[in-house]
Amino acid sequence: MDTQNSPYELIGGSQKVDELVDRFYDLMALDESFSQLRAMHSPDLSSSREKLKLFLSGWLGGPDIYSPKYGHPMLRARHLSFKIGLNERNQWLACMYQAMEDCEITGELGARLEESFFNTADWMRNQPN
Ligand code: HEM
Repeated sequence: MDTQNSPYELIGGSQKVDELVDRFYDLMALDESFSQLRAMHSPDLSSSREKLKLFLSGWLGGPDIYSPKYGHPMLRARHLSFKIGLNERNQWLACMYQAMEDCEITGELGARLEESFFNTADWMRNQPN
């Protein structure tokens, strides 16, 4: 991918990634409709925040800063200890889509990113429904 035109650069680089991830976890903790998703996570969300920020940097076509610290992402394997079915996938996506809207990641780029998030979240499912 051309890094200059990567989604990472287009949304506004590391500052915007951090803003998006912080909004995502703030919403997860605040909005009752995400309570099941919140309950799957550790009481303290600071490590989740840090890891998702590092991971999304590379996933969005920016610098790979996750792997030097935590090794190969193996994202699906890292999620196998959690039961992820349609409900969990949908809550994760609804929370992320709301965070994107709140951070003004919209329009054509927003639609492309929503599709990428959908594909990755759907791939994480490890329950039939
Ligand atoms: C499909 C629904 C998903 C659910 C229910 C889910 C749930 C979780 C949970 C419970 C954790 C552990 C956090 C903790 O212990 O506090 C986690 C970690 C993580 N998730 Fe997800 N997740 C989902 C989708 C995604 C997607 C789509 C991405 C990336 C685009 C992602 C990226 C990550 C990363 C990077 C970590 C940290 C991994 C590590 O280094 O240990 N997750 N997720």
